[in-house]
Amino acid sequence: MDPRLKKIVEKIRDKSLREKVSSLIENPLVEIEGKVYTGLPLNRSPAGLSRHHSYPGGFLEHTIASTEIALTLCKVIEKIYHGKIDRDLVIAGMVLHDIFKPLTYEEEKNGTYTATPLAERLDHLTLAVSELIRRGFPLNLIHIVCAHHGGAAGPIWPRTIEALVCHLADVTDSRLNGEVLRAARYLSRTATGEELHISTSKEAFEIVHSKVIEGWDGVRKTVEKIIKDRLA
Ligand SMILES: [Fe+2]
Ligand SMILES: [Fe+2]
Repeated sequence: MDPRLKKIVEKIRDKSLREKVSSLIENPLVEIEGKVYTGLPLNRSPAGLSRHHSYPGGFLEHTIASTEIALTLCKVIEKIYHGKIDRDLVIAGMVLHDIFKPLTYEEEKNGTYTATPLAERLDHLTLAVSELIRRGFPLNLIHIVCAHHGGAAGPIWPRTIEALVCHLADVTDSRLNGEVLRAARYLSRTATGEELHISTSKEAFEIVHSKVIEGWDGVRKTVEKIIKDRLA
Protein backbone atom coordinates (compact mmCIF):
# COMPACT_ATOMS: atom_id res chain seq x y z
CA MET A 1 0.00 0.00 0.00
CA ASP A 2 1.20 3.53 -0.73
CA PRO A 3 2.80 4.85 2.50
CA ARG A 4 0.77 8.08 2.41
CA LEU A 5 -2.46 6.10 2.12
CA LYS A 6 -1.31 3.69 4.82
CA LYS A 7 -0.75 6.60 7.22
CA ILE A 8 -4.31 7.79 6.65
CA VAL A 9 -5.83 4.31 7.06
CA GLU A 10 -3.95 3.90 10.35
CA LYS A 11 -5.95 6.84 11.73
CA ILE A 12 -9.11 4.69 11.70
CA ARG A 13 -9.49 3.69 15.36
CA ASP A 14 -12.07 0.92 14.97
CA LYS A 15 -10.02 -2.21 14.31
CA SER A 16 -12.61 -4.11 12.32
CA LEU A 17 -13.31 -1.12 10.02
CA ARG A 18 -9.58 -0.40 9.62
CA GLU A 19 -8.88 -4.01 8.60
CA LYS A 20 -11.76 -4.06 6.14
CA VAL A 21 -10.53 -0.81 4.53
CA SER A 22 -6.92 -2.08 4.34
CA SER A 23 -7.91 -5.37 2.77
CA LEU A 24 -9.99 -3.63 0.07
CA ILE A 25 -7.19 -1.17 -0.74
CA GLU A 26 -4.68 -3.98 -1.00
CA ASN A 27 -7.01 -5.97 -3.24
CA PRO A 28 -9.19 -3.50 -5.15
CA LEU A 29 -10.89 -5.89 -7.54
CA VAL A 30 -14.37 -7.09 -8.38
CA GLU A 31 -15.51 -10.42 -9.78
CA ILE A 32 -18.47 -10.60 -12.15
CA GLU A 33 -19.57 -13.85 -13.83
CA GLY A 34 -16.28 -15.44 -12.79
CA LYS A 35 -14.23 -12.69 -14.47
CA VAL A 36 -11.91 -10.68 -12.21
CA TYR A 37 -11.56 -6.97 -12.98
CA THR A 38 -8.42 -5.32 -11.59
CA GLY A 39 -7.82 -2.13 -13.60
CA LEU A 40 -4.94 0.33 -13.32
CA PRO A 41 -2.70 0.14 -10.22
CA LEU A 42 -3.87 2.65 -7.59
CA ASN A 43 -0.60 4.61 -7.69
CA ARG A 44 -0.70 4.97 -11.54
CA SER A 45 -4.38 5.68 -11.99
CA PRO A 46 -5.91 9.10 -12.68
CA ALA A 47 -9.10 10.11 -10.85
CA GLY A 48 -10.80 11.51 -13.95
CA LEU A 49 -10.74 11.11 -17.75
CA SER A 50 -10.19 14.83 -18.37
CA ARG A 51 -12.03 17.06 -15.89
CA HIS A 52 -9.87 16.63 -12.77
CA HIS A 53 -6.78 14.67 -11.67
CA SER A 54 -6.47 13.28 -15.23
CA TYR A 55 -2.80 12.28 -15.04
CA PRO A 56 -0.84 9.35 -13.54
CA GLY A 57 -1.03 9.45 -9.75
CA GLY A 58 -4.16 11.62 -9.83
CA PHE A 59 -6.24 8.99 -8.05
CA LEU A 60 -3.94 8.93 -5.02
CA GLU A 61 -3.63 12.72 -4.96
CA HIS A 62 -7.41 13.11 -5.04
CA THR A 63 -7.95 10.47 -2.34
CA ILE A 64 -5.36 12.04 -0.02
CA ALA A 65 -6.35 15.66 -0.70
CA SER A 66 -10.08 15.05 -0.23
CA THR A 67 -9.40 13.16 3.03
CA GLU A 68 -7.39 16.14 4.32
CA ILE A 69 -10.20 18.54 3.35
CA ALA A 70 -12.78 16.29 5.05
CA LEU A 71 -10.71 16.16 8.26
CA THR A 72 -10.46 19.95 8.25
CA LEU A 73 -14.26 20.11 7.97
CA CYS A 74 -14.50 17.70 10.94
CA LYS A 75 -12.41 20.11 12.98
CA VAL A 76 -14.65 23.05 12.02
CA ILE A 77 -17.78 21.07 12.95
CA GLU A 78 -16.38 20.13 16.37
CA LYS A 79 -14.57 23.32 17.37
CA ILE A 80 -16.78 26.02 15.87
CA TYR A 81 -20.23 24.43 15.51
CA HIS A 82 -19.93 22.12 18.55
CA GLY A 83 -21.33 19.26 16.49
CA LYS A 84 -20.49 15.57 16.72
CA ILE A 85 -18.86 13.65 13.91
CA ASP A 86 -17.56 10.10 13.50
CA ARG A 87 -14.04 10.56 12.11
CA ASP A 88 -13.56 6.85 11.49
CA LEU A 89 -16.47 6.88 9.06
CA VAL A 90 -15.23 10.07 7.39
CA ILE A 91 -11.70 8.72 6.88
CA ALA A 92 -12.88 5.32 5.66
CA GLY A 93 -15.50 6.92 3.42
CA MET A 94 -13.03 9.33 1.86
CA VAL A 95 -10.36 6.68 1.32
CA LEU A 96 -12.87 4.33 -0.36
CA HIS A 97 -15.17 6.77 -2.16
CA ASP A 98 -13.52 6.36 -5.59
CA ILE A 99 -11.81 3.01 -4.95
CA PHE A 100 -13.08 1.44 -8.19
CA LYS A 101 -12.35 4.41 -10.46
CA PRO A 102 -9.06 2.72 -11.51
CA LEU A 103 -11.19 -0.14 -12.88
CA THR A 104 -12.89 2.27 -15.25
CA TYR A 105 -9.83 3.79 -16.97
CA GLU A 106 -7.54 2.56 -19.70
CA GLU A 107 -4.29 4.29 -20.63
CA GLU A 108 -3.82 5.28 -24.28
CA LYS A 109 -0.38 5.39 -25.93
CA ASN A 110 -0.44 9.21 -26.07
CA GLY A 111 -0.93 9.48 -22.29
CA THR A 112 -4.68 10.18 -22.36
CA TYR A 113 -7.33 7.92 -20.82
CA THR A 114 -10.47 6.21 -22.09
CA ALA A 115 -13.25 4.24 -20.42
CA THR A 116 -12.83 0.45 -20.05
CA PRO A 117 -15.50 -1.99 -21.31
CA LEU A 118 -16.50 -2.47 -17.64
CA ALA A 119 -17.08 1.30 -17.34
CA GLU A 120 -19.42 1.09 -20.34
CA ARG A 121 -21.72 -1.03 -18.15
CA LEU A 122 -21.16 0.09 -14.54
CA ASP A 123 -19.98 3.34 -12.94
CA HIS A 124 -17.42 3.49 -10.11
CA LEU A 125 -20.10 4.27 -7.56
CA THR A 126 -22.29 1.24 -8.34
CA LEU A 127 -19.21 -1.00 -8.38
CA ALA A 128 -18.09 0.29 -4.98
CA VAL A 129 -21.51 0.12 -3.31
CA SER A 130 -22.11 -3.47 -4.42
CA GLU A 131 -18.63 -4.64 -3.39
CA LEU A 132 -18.89 -2.87 0.00
CA ILE A 133 -22.20 -4.66 0.64
CA ARG A 134 -20.64 -7.98 -0.39
CA ARG A 135 -17.71 -7.40 1.99
CA GLY A 136 -19.98 -6.57 4.93
CA PHE A 137 -19.10 -2.90 5.45
CA PRO A 138 -21.32 -0.85 7.85
CA LEU A 139 -24.44 0.72 6.30
CA ASN A 140 -23.37 4.26 7.29
CA LEU A 141 -20.06 3.77 5.45
CA ILE A 142 -21.80 2.42 2.35
CA HIS A 143 -24.13 5.45 2.48
CA ILE A 144 -21.12 7.81 2.40
CA VAL A 145 -19.82 6.17 -0.78
CA CYS A 146 -23.33 6.02 -2.32
CA ALA A 147 -23.99 9.73 -1.60
CA HIS A 148 -20.56 11.20 -2.39
CA HIS A 149 -21.69 12.73 -5.73
CA GLY A 150 -24.76 14.29 -4.09
CA GLY A 151 -28.34 13.64 -5.20
CA ALA A 152 -28.16 15.72 -8.41
CA ALA A 153 -25.35 13.64 -9.92
CA GLY A 154 -25.79 10.42 -7.92
CA PRO A 155 -28.48 8.09 -6.52
CA ILE A 156 -29.03 9.77 -3.12
CA TRP A 157 -28.32 13.01 -1.25
CA PRO A 158 -26.14 12.79 1.90
CA ARG A 159 -28.41 11.96 4.87
CA THR A 160 -25.72 12.02 7.61
CA ILE A 161 -23.23 14.71 8.64
CA GLU A 162 -20.38 12.31 7.74
CA ALA A 163 -21.76 11.78 4.21
CA LEU A 164 -22.26 15.53 3.77
CA VAL A 165 -18.66 16.23 4.83
CA CYS A 166 -17.35 13.61 2.38
CA HIS A 167 -19.53 14.93 -0.47
CA LEU A 168 -18.32 18.50 0.11
CA ALA A 169 -14.66 17.44 0.40
CA ASP A 170 -14.93 15.45 -2.84
CA VAL A 171 -16.55 18.35 -4.72
CA THR A 172 -14.05 20.86 -3.32
CA ASP A 173 -10.96 18.90 -4.31
CA SER A 174 -12.31 17.92 -7.74
CA ARG A 175 -13.17 21.56 -8.41
CA LEU A 176 -9.83 22.91 -7.09
CA ASN A 177 -7.80 20.54 -9.23
CA GLY A 178 -10.09 20.77 -12.26
CA GLU A 179 -10.07 24.57 -12.37
CA VAL A 180 -6.27 24.74 -12.16
CA LEU A 181 -5.87 22.06 -14.88
CA ARG A 182 -8.32 23.91 -17.13
CA ALA A 183 -6.53 27.23 -16.56
CA ALA A 184 -3.09 25.70 -17.23
CA ARG A 185 -4.31 24.16 -20.51
CA TYR A 186 -5.86 27.45 -21.60
CA LEU A 187 -2.77 29.49 -20.63
CA SER A 188 -0.36 27.14 -22.43
CA ARG A 189 -2.57 27.13 -25.55
CA THR A 190 -2.90 30.92 -25.62
CA ALA A 191 0.77 31.62 -24.86
CA THR A 192 2.36 29.11 -27.25
CA GLY A 193 -0.34 28.26 -29.79
CA GLU A 194 -0.28 24.64 -28.68
CA GLU A 195 -1.94 23.08 -25.65
CA LEU A 196 0.50 21.40 -23.30
CA HIS A 197 -0.49 17.91 -22.18
CA ILE A 198 -0.39 18.30 -18.39
CA SER A 199 1.14 15.25 -16.73
CA THR A 200 1.30 16.32 -13.07
CA SER A 201 -0.60 18.72 -10.82
CA LYS A 202 2.72 20.47 -10.10
CA GLU A 203 3.01 21.48 -13.77
CA ALA A 204 -0.51 22.92 -13.76
CA PHE A 205 0.07 24.95 -10.60
CA GLU A 206 3.45 26.18 -11.93
CA ILE A 207 1.91 27.45 -15.16
CA VAL A 208 -0.90 29.31 -13.41
CA HIS A 209 1.53 30.78 -10.87
CA SER A 210 3.91 31.96 -13.61
CA LYS A 211 1.08 33.93 -15.27
CA VAL A 212 0.37 35.70 -11.96
CA ILE A 213 4.03 36.62 -11.40
CA GLU A 214 5.44 37.25 -14.90
CA GLY A 215 2.44 37.38 -17.25
CA TRP A 216 2.40 35.65 -20.66
CA ASP A 217 6.18 35.67 -20.86
CA GLY A 218 6.26 33.69 -17.64
CA VAL A 219 3.82 31.16 -19.07
CA ARG A 220 5.94 30.69 -22.21
CA LYS A 221 9.10 30.23 -20.12
CA THR A 222 7.42 27.74 -17.76
CA VAL A 223 5.99 25.67 -20.63
CA GLU A 224 9.45 25.58 -22.30
CA LYS A 225 11.02 24.51 -19.00
CA ILE A 226 8.45 21.73 -18.49
CA ILE A 227 9.06 20.38 -22.02
CA LYS A 228 12.85 20.55 -21.52
CA ASP A 229 12.63 18.74 -18.17
CA ARG A 230 10.56 15.97 -19.76
CA LEU A 231 13.18 15.39 -22.44
CA ALA A 232 16.04 15.36 -19.91
FE1 LIG B 1 -16.73 9.63 -7.43
FE1 LIG C 1 -13.85 11.73 -5.83
